[in-house]
Amino acid sequence: MEDLKGKIEATANLDDLESLRVEIFGKKGLLAAEFAKLKDIASENKKEFAKGLNDKKIALTEVFEEKKRVLLEMALEKKLESERVDVSLYGYESTKGSLHPVKETMDKIIDYFVALNFSVESGPLIENDFTNFEALNLPKNHPAREMQDTFFLADGQLLRTHTSPVQIRTMMKEKPPIRMIAPGAVFRRDYDLTHTPMFHQVEGLVVDKTGVVSFANLKAILTDFLHYMFGEVEVRFRPSFFPFTEPSTEVDISCIFCEGEGCRVCSHTGWLEVLGSGVVDPNVFEAVGYEDVSGYAFGLGVERFAMLLHRVPDLRSMFEGDIRLLEQFR
Ligand code: DAH
Repeated sequence: MEDLKGKIEATANLDDLESLRVEIFGKKGLLAAEFAKLKDIASENKKEFAKGLNDKKIALTEVFEEKKRVLLEMALEKKLESERVDVSLYGYESTKGSLHPVKETMDKIIDYFVALNFSVESGPLIENDFTNFEALNLPKNHPAREMQDTFFLADGQLLRTHTSPVQIRTMMKEKPPIRMIAPGAVFRRDYDLTHTPMFHQVEGLVVDKTGVVSFANLKAILTDFLHYMFGEVEVRFRPSFFPFTEPSTEVDISCIFCEGEGCRVCSHTGWLEVLGSGVVDPNVFEAVGYEDVSGYAFGLGVERFAMLLHRVPDLRSMFEGDIRLLEQFR
């Protein structure tokens, strides 16, 4: 008895205590074996023997429970100690991400036109010859196709070289009036300081009954848009050529780096070209089956806008994912 008490008290952990519980109190344990002897005891001694055993059991149980309580407490304390958190320590600074400058510029452009009730349309990146060229008044073998170095796919399809095909797709599925922009990625076989094989454009198209939409509207909206993007700049409309517009114009802003004085960025002209636009060529309307309408269209390169706004000298750096560059846009 004293022996068992001592054994319980000497236990060092809960696992050992559990083994001991089975050994002493279990169905085939020491106490059970003692109680089994009861049947062989003479009946006049039975009562006393049973009482003795019961007292012994109660005493052992008490020692056992007390030991269990102590060991549980010790285990808890050990756990708390190991899981302790020092709330006075300084935390790690969490690094915040930011929008990529191209995305941010794209959003800013979209916001402007959405506020003027333009719808935002999209089209597939893999296009066919008709929507990317033919319907835009760029017939096969037309020299103007040369302006757009095209990635052709094996099946005669191609990666769209501009967002202008979305004009065609939208007109083919909707009736005039149309007032839309089409932001998205485009692809050309080009790679240097100012060209990457993939870049982004925003296309714009406004169409209504003949006479409702004029070149004057085009000038007004693009001038206002460029002031929204670049602040107090001068805006200049310069005659140009695009197959899908007639007349066509390229739009320049006074150089935001030298304020028109002439510097390396503007090639000492004082002007930066930022947009292509014009009055929609009747051949384009014919291709989509529109009659008695007129309209204007424009297209711009988002990366070029982002580079000018953030003064990034090399377009390729926009797509290298260098964290040191991106961190500057937080
Ligand atoms: N699609 C032309 C390009 O990629 C940009 C453009 C110019 C779009 C004039 C137009 C436009 O809608 O009217 O270079």
